[in-house]
Amino acid sequence: MTAPVRSAHAAEPEVVKVNLGTRSYDIVIGRGVADSLGARIAALRPGAKTFVVTDENVARQILPAILGTLGRAGVKTDSIVVPPGESSKSFPVFERVCEAIVAARIERGDLVIALGGGVIGDLAGFAAAVVRRGLDYVQVPTTLLAQVDSSVGGKTAIDSSHGKNLIGAFHQPILVVADTALLDTLPVREFRAGYAEMAKYGLLGDAAFFDWLDANRKEVFAGGNSSGGSARDHAIAVSCRAKAAIVARDERETGDRQLLNLGHTFGHALEAACGYSDQLLHGEAIAIGMALAFEFSASRQGLCSKAEAARVIRHLAAAGLPTRIQDIAPPPPSIGELMELIAQDKKIKCGRLTFILVRGIGDAFIETGVDAGEVRAFLSEKLSEQ
Ligand SMILES: NC(=O)c1ccc[n+]([C@@H]2O[C@H](COP(=O)([O-])OP(=O)(O)OC[C@H]3O[C@@H](n4cnc5c(N)ncnc54)[C@H](O)[C@@H]3O)[C@@H](O)[C@H]2O)c1
Ligand SMILES: [Zn+2]
Repeated sequence: MTAPVRSAHAAEPEVVKVNLGTRSYDIVIGRGVADSLGARIAALRPGAKTFVVTDENVARQILPAILGTLGRAGVKTDSIVVPPGESSKSFPVFERVCEAIVAARIERGDLVIALGGGVIGDLAGFAAAVVRRGLDYVQVPTTLLAQVDSSVGGKTAIDSSHGKNLIGAFHQPILVVADTALLDTLPVREFRAGYAEMAKYGLLGDAAFFDWLDANRKEVFAGGNSSGGSARDHAIAVSCRAKAAIVARDERETGDRQLLNLGHTFGHALEAACGYSDQLLHGEAIAIGMALAFEFSASRQGLCSKAEAARVIRHLAAAGLPTRIQDIAPPPPSIGELMELIAQDKKIKCGRLTFILVRGIGDAFIETGVDAGEVRAFLSEKLSEQ
């Protein structure tokens, strides 16, 4: 992964392949690559109609350009715009999207296009999975989180009243087009939240990438220029390659794919405690979760050095991310509530929990026998810190 950032004249997009046999697909990454979306779709599926699903914010910023590229390539298209935010991953909005796809006479062989962040990717992907018993779809991720994580790997879902992402399907896209210039309009808080997932790939399996991020974080945030080859593009490509490799090994998360949940057991509990509101974005929860996973591995399990845990926390904090439960305002949840939420997220079997723990930066592993009492003691200690 330590390949140098491409030089200024290398404007060719980066293509990462997700190898899943007959369901393999390309992730095309670069500044301005969305301009080629129409031509790519026309080449991949000659004569296919498309149906774009997007949200109000993205419709304002990006939809006209997307309709433009499709139109120039002679690709017929219809679209639906839903409200932004997690509340669109609901049955009522899902129903509207499915009915709109049917009403637009999108048939087998045609394509759904998910244009937006993870919310739109999950919602449109799930609609594509079920309308007419399965339509192909293309992901055009517009948030950093979606470009490095949710648009790759085929997990699609809406939320249940019992919890997030409980109703869904595995349904791989046939193409992902990640235009890194689209991130220029993303609020910095959303960019940071995506950055937490990017750092995760270094922390879980690629120490050299983490070192590179440590040296180049500011350039990743700054983006790049129209000549391409920016640090941001490089970091997104490395992240996609990491996710693609794990998904290719374990598409349905029966093994290795669980490593992608580094920081997520603590993180999900904190998100749930905050009611999945803007109080704590997913990536922010994961930043705290990863900091806790490193500290837990260091102080309670003796697996990793305290210096490495401190380095991870310094890095995330320098990126503007929260790293302590106390960073959440208003005040953090009680220990009882947190333990209950952790137990709901990952069933406790005989007092044992499954956690992704670390031996150091870039060396995460799945531990199925974590003592729930140890976790409780650790969290109590963290909550009592000033
Ligand atoms: N399927 C998976 O593998 C997977 C993985 C991780 C997360 N997720 C899901 O992803 C969702 C979160 O995704 P997200 O963080 O992208 O949130 P999001 O889709 O809600 O987008 C965040 C906000 O940014 C706005 N936005 C999007 N693109 C923009 C742009 N280019 N410029 C300006 N504003 C823009 C959106 O309208 C929204 O308000 C959650 O529902 C989570 O469950 C899924
Ligand atoms: Zn995540």
